[in-house]
Amino acid sequence: MNTETDSPVKQKLIVLDTTLRDGEQSPGATLDIQEKLEIARQLSRLGVDVCEAGFPIASPGDFEAVRRIAEEVGPLMEGRKSGQPMAIAGLARAKEADIDRAFEAVKAAPLHRIHTFLATSDIHLKYKLKIDREECIEQAVKAVRYARSLCDNVEFSPEDAGRSDPEFLTVILGEVIKAGATTLNIPDTVGYTTPEEFGGLIKYLIEKTPGSDKVVWSTHCHNDLGLATANTLAGVLNGARQVEVTLNGIGERAGNTSLEEVVMAVHTRPQNFAVETDIDTTQIIRTSRMVSAYTGMAVQPNKAIVGANAFAHEAGIHQDGMLKHHSTYEIMRPETVGLSASSLVLGKHSGRHAFRSRLVELGYNSLSEEDLNKAFDRFKRIADKKKAVTDADLEAIITDEFYQPKEIWKLHDVHVSCGDKIKATATVTLTAPNGTEITDAAHGTGPVDAIYKAINRIVNESNTLTEFVVQAVTEGIDAMGEVTIRIQPQNGEGFITNPQTGTQMARTYSGHGASTDIIVASARAYMSALNKMLSERAERGVINA
Ligand code: KIV
Ligand code: ZN
Repeated sequence: MNTETDSPVKQKLIVLDTTLRDGEQSPGATLDIQEKLEIARQLSRLGVDVCEAGFPIASPGDFEAVRRIAEEVGPLMEGRKSGQPMAIAGLARAKEADIDRAFEAVKAAPLHRIHTFLATSDIHLKYKLKIDREECIEQAVKAVRYARSLCDNVEFSPEDAGRSDPEFLTVILGEVIKAGATTLNIPDTVGYTTPEEFGGLIKYLIEKTPGSDKVVWSTHCHNDLGLATANTLAGVLNGARQVEVTLNGIGERAGNTSLEEVVMAVHTRPQNFAVETDIDTTQIIRTSRMVSAYTGMAVQPNKAIVGANAFAHEAGIHQDGMLKHHSTYEIMRPETVGLSASSLVLGKHSGRHAFRSRLVELGYNSLSEEDLNKAFDRFKRIADKKKAVTDADLEAIITDEFYQPKEIWKLHDVHVSCGDKIKATATVTLTAPNGTEITDAAHGTGPVDAIYKAINRIVNESNTLTEFVVQAVTEGIDAMGEVTIRIQPQNGEGFITNPQTGTQMARTYSGHGASTDIIVASARAYMSALNKMLSERAERGVINA
C-alpha cells in the first residue's frame, strides 16, 4: 500500500516528542526538574524538532520546568543535523489563562510553540465539556486567535479526533486555519482507530478542509489496541508531515506512539516513505535508557528497536545465518541505533584513558573530571568482580551513578544473611541529611524485604512498594542486574489530578539501581525512589530536604 514511492525528493518529517508531557502523564513516571532538563538536552542531541516540554498551567513545577527547558535547552545546537535549534512547545487548553501561561513558559526559546487543544467528539462535547458544536468552534477559534496574537507558531488539536465526526472536523479545522493555526494535529486520543481508518481520516481532512495546504498536518496516536505506530505511519503515507511520539512509547494507559519505531521504520524502508527525519539514530538507545531510568518505566525485553532482545539472535539456525551474513536475519544494524557491535570492551587492567575513550565513543562526552573519576572507581570495582565489562555494563554504571535524584539519604553499606533455613536479616548503614551515619537491622521474608524494612526503620517514611522488576544487563552468571521499583507514600498526601483528563493518579515514585549483586541493586533502587519522593515533597514545600 505504498502510495509514495514515485516521489524522488524526500520531504521533511517533523518529529515532535511529547515524552515530557504526554509521556510524563503515565502513572509513576513523574520527573523532577533536573531529570526533565537532562532528558530535554538529550532530545536535542537526538535531533527532535519540537519538544513538548509540559503543560505549564498544570502546576508551578510544570511551569518552571518548561521555562527552564526553553531558556537552557532551547538555544542548544550540539549535534543537530537540521541546523536549527529544537523548538519548545507548551500545552494549553483552549482558555486564555492556559495560553498565557504556556507562552510565558516557552517564550525564551529561540523557537517556541503554543499547542492548544479542545475536544471535538460528540462523546466529549456532551459528557465532558457540556457544550454543543457551535460553542466548540467558537472556543477553538478564540483560543487559536489569541495564541496567534502572542506567538506565530500555533498548533491546534481536536482532542478525540479519532472518534469525532470527520465532516465536523473539516468545519472546525477550516475555522482554526483562518484564525491562524500553523499545525493541525489529529489525535486518536483513546487509541480506537485502525490504520486504514486513521490513514483515511488524514487523507479526507487534507482533501476537504478549506485552507489545508497552509498548515502542517500531524498525527498523535495512542496505543490502546497496539496500533499506534501502524496508525502513525498510515497518517504519514496519507500526507501527515509531523508525528507526535514518545521515547519507549510511554504515556497514559497503553502509551503513545514510540519515537524509535516510527523513525526506524522510515529509515529502514526508505522506498516506502517519501519523508525523512533529522533524527540522529545512533542516539536512540542512549535516550531510551535515560528515559527508562528517570521514569522508572522498564522497557520490555522484546520491545522493537530498544528492547534488550531486539538484536539478540538465540535460535541456532539464526546464529548460523548471522555468522554467514548478518543480512540473513537482521534488517537494521545495531550500531545504527547506538548499540555497539563489540561486546568485550574493558577489563580490570584497562586504564582511565581507555575508559574515558569508550565513554566518549558511546556519546558521553560531557562528563566532568569529577564525574569521570566517580564512574571510573565504580568501573574498577565492577571489573574486579566481572571478567569482561561490556558497553551495556558501562551504560548501566552511568545510569546508576548519574541518572539519580538528589541524594538526601545516602546508602553507606548493606549486609544481608539469608538462606532456606534462616530468617533473612539485613543490616544497613545510611548517611543522614545532616551527615551522621545511622545503622539499623531488620528481619524480613527475604533479603530484599529485610533491607527495605531496615531502611524504613532509619528513614521512617511509610510507603507501599507497588512494583519491583529485576533485569540482567547482559548475559552470563556474572551479569550486572538492574532493579526498577515504584513506591507510593502512605502519609495521606493523596492524588495528583491529570489536568487534561481530570483523572486522579496516586502519587508514585520510581527508583532504579544497578550492581553485579542484585541485593545491592535493590537497596540502591529503594534509596533512589525514597530520595525522589523526599525531593519532590521538598519542592512542593512540604518538608525541607
Ligand atoms: O491524546 C490527546 O488527545 C492529547 C492532546 C492534548 C493532543 O494528548
Ligand atoms: Zn495524547
